Order: sequence, then C-alpha cells, then structure tokens
Amino acid sequence: MAFLPANLYELSPQEKQVLLDQLEKQYKSIQEEKLHLDMTRGKPSPEQLDLSLPMLSLVDEKHYKSENHTDCRNYGVLDGLSETKRLFSWILDIPADNIFVGGNSSLNLMYDVLVQAMLYGVPGGNKPWKDEEKISFLCPVPGYDRHFAILEHLGIEMIPVRLGDNGPDMETVVSLVESNPSIKGIFCVPKYSNPTGITYSDEVVKAFVTLKPAAPDFRIFWDNAYAIHHIDYPGDHLLNVFEEAKNHHCEDRFYIFSSTSKITFAGGGVACVATGKKNLEALKKHYGIQTIGYDKLNQLRHALFFKDKQSLESHMKKHADILRPKKDLVVRTLSEQFANLGIVRWTNPKGGYFVSLDTLPGCAKMVVSLAHEAGVKLTPAGSTFPYKNDPKDTSIRLAFSYPSLKEIEKAMEVISLCIAIASLRSMLHQK
Ligand SMILES: Cc1ncc(COP(=O)(O)O)c(C=O)c1O
Repeated sequence: MAFLPANLYELSPQEKQVLLDQLEKQYKSIQEEKLHLDMTRGKPSPEQLDLSLPMLSLVDEKHYKSENHTDCRNYGVLDGLSETKRLFSWILDIPADNIFVGGNSSLNLMYDVLVQAMLYGVPGGNKPWKDEEKISFLCPVPGYDRHFAILEHLGIEMIPVRLGDNGPDMETVVSLVESNPSIKGIFCVPKYSNPTGITYSDEVVKAFVTLKPAAPDFRIFWDNAYAIHHIDYPGDHLLNVFEEAKNHHCEDRFYIFSSTSKITFAGGGVACVATGKKNLEALKKHYGIQTIGYDKLNQLRHALFFKDKQSLESHMKKHADILRPKKDLVVRTLSEQFANLGIVRWTNPKGGYFVSLDTLPGCAKMVVSLAHEAGVKLTPAGSTFPYKNDPKDTSIRLAFSYPSLKEIEKAMEVISLCIAIASLRSMLHQK
C-alpha cells in the first residue's frame, strides 16, 4: 500500500499534518521491530560468490604453470601473465599489449597511478604534480565516494561537474579543461556509473577524445568497473574509448581500469590498467620499484576459469540472474509508492550495482537518518559528492546486491516510509 495518496499536492496543510502524524506512528512501530538491514555497499552476495568457487581448485599441486611455462609460484612477470592480459582484453576490448595486470584491486591501481603522478609526474608533463602550485580534478557528480576520498587524501582540489543521463556535462568539462592548466584530470565511471547507473553516450566518449586540454599532462581516469556487468539484456553499449583514442593518437591520455572484483571474488580478484605505450613504460618503471611481481597464482586461476569470451559472458549472465530480481524489487517498490507524485526520482539502470534516488531538495540527509534510526543502513547522504557536500541534499544511493530479497523488501518498505515522512515534513516546512 502506498504511504502517500495520488492527490498529495491537493491536500491542505492540515490534511498533510494528519497524514504525517499517521506515518510517524507507523514509523515508531517499525522502530520497535529492531531491524538490522544494510543497503550501503555494492558487494556481491554470497550466492554470487558461490558462482566462482570452482575456480579455487584449478590451481593445485599439478597446475601452477602458465601457458608459456612460467612457474607461477615464483617471483617475476611484473606486468602479468599473457593469459590474464587476454582475459582483460575480452573484458575491455583493448589489445593485451596495452594492459598491465596488477594485484587484487583496481582502486589500489588508481591510487598508485595518482601517487606516482604526484611524486614523479606523467609522460608529457613538465614536473611532478606535487610541485605544481595548484592541481585539481573534475569530479562528475554524483560519483564514486572512494575516488573522491583518494583525491581528498592527496590534497587534490575537486571540482564537481554535473553528471546527466548521457554522461558528464561536456560543455562545462571542455570549457574548464581547455582553459585551466591546473586541471590535471577527471575521474569517470563510463558504464553503469556508480551511483546513477548511466552509461556515457558515443558523443560524450568522443568529446573526451577530442578534448584539447590546457595541461599537457592531463589524464582521464576511466574506471570501467562495470564493463560487462549487465543485469537486463541487451545491456548498454559503451563506445570503445581506447579505439577512439588510438584513431586520434592520444591513448596516453587515458588510464582505463577494471577488475574481477564483481566477476569472481571482491578483494580476491585481479585488477588491471590499460593505457598507451608511454604511460605503460612509466608505470612499469615505478611498479618495478614497488613490487617484484603480483600474485600470479591468482592470475592463473582466473585465466583457467575463463577459457574463452563465451565462458565469461555466461558467467556474467548468472550474476545477472541473481541481481535482476533484487534491482526489480527496488525499482518496483519505488514506482508503487511514488509514481507520478513528483517528490522523488530514481534510476532503473540496465546493469551495475546501484539504484540512485533524488528526493525533494533538503530531504536526503533526513531520509538516511530516519532509515538509520529504524535499523536500515544507507550510504551516508552526501558521500557521492566531493567533500561529502551534496549542495541540494537530494542524492541517495541504494546498493541492492548484498541483501536477500526478503531483506530488500523490508528495507524498501522502511525507506519508502522515510521518504514519505521527509517529503511531508519538507512540504510543511518542518525539520
Ligand atoms: C566504480 C568503482 N570502481 C572501483 C571499485 C572498486 O574496485 P576494486 O575492487 O577493483 O578495487 C568499485 C567498487 O565498488 C566501484 O564501484
């Protein structure tokens, strides 16, 4: 049953107050249920992790050599096994020669690449970024909180840019990047973006390739974390930015990241960065100091598990079959509760790990805090913005992958009630 009537906007303030009082009573009784539900982080569920269990027995006493007979138990092969590069080449549609396979986390690679740029600069630059008077990054918002955390941690100023349905507002991106040499880069999640789930249009991808940055060492951190993570088929198509960049001879403008965190095991997978030849040489030089080599046994395990592109695709379809009913339940509840009311907008992405909500201005923090006090944890409001500052206080991220359907059903009931209460309070100008 919907908490709010279809004629909400026609109700008098007195009628709205009566409704609010009723909903607050319902809220109190839910609080007494002492729920413990969590929709904060985009983690694979145990059922999804089970899909990759057979991978664990592919490397054993007899199987520890790579296809070109490297003993994976020992040091060496800094940039990754050829078969693991091939796996990422299927995922990203980028030549294996342009891929560096790292450790277990793409976020870790992003951090390293940024720190390397700070300490030593990047090919084409004049000096280490730390020696510049001021450096800043563009941050499409809402975006991934951990990108912003890295930038903040390294003291890089963040400039928010609006993320629309087809990607970042490119007019603003182009005018800022082409006029301001202190802007050294931008973080992008081009496919099934975290948190809104949108995929960049061909025009947006092309605009990144044809940019003429004022900074000679401008870099695009293209975090393709959800490259093959469809939920509804056919999924979104993302234009191959590397191909486009090759045609314009600017492959080194892009660092393209991905990992198997949401393909096999989160935190127990393999990550990569793909880029142009000059960047690759610089990366290998720095990484050659940082490590003698990454975990090749895990790289081998992954390459043996995914023998060809088809096996990878059919594995992702199994993930989709688990995720689809969860995403559908979130979206269905929101439309049953709020369709045509005009107080909340939500996304219905064809892939990725999140549904994103926009409440009435000034309501997101209230919704998250009401939900928290009723036992439903949500990502803190504002965290999808640089410095945790969502100026309109509207954005809420819902992570549906981990909880069970039953838990999502209950959590969505609570969240809907909290949205209804916060919206009524806002309409009645109450805090
Ligand atoms: C956009 C994005 N990039 C990177 C990551 C983390 O990836 P990894 O596990 O490879 O560090 C996540 C995890 O949620 C993500 O949403």
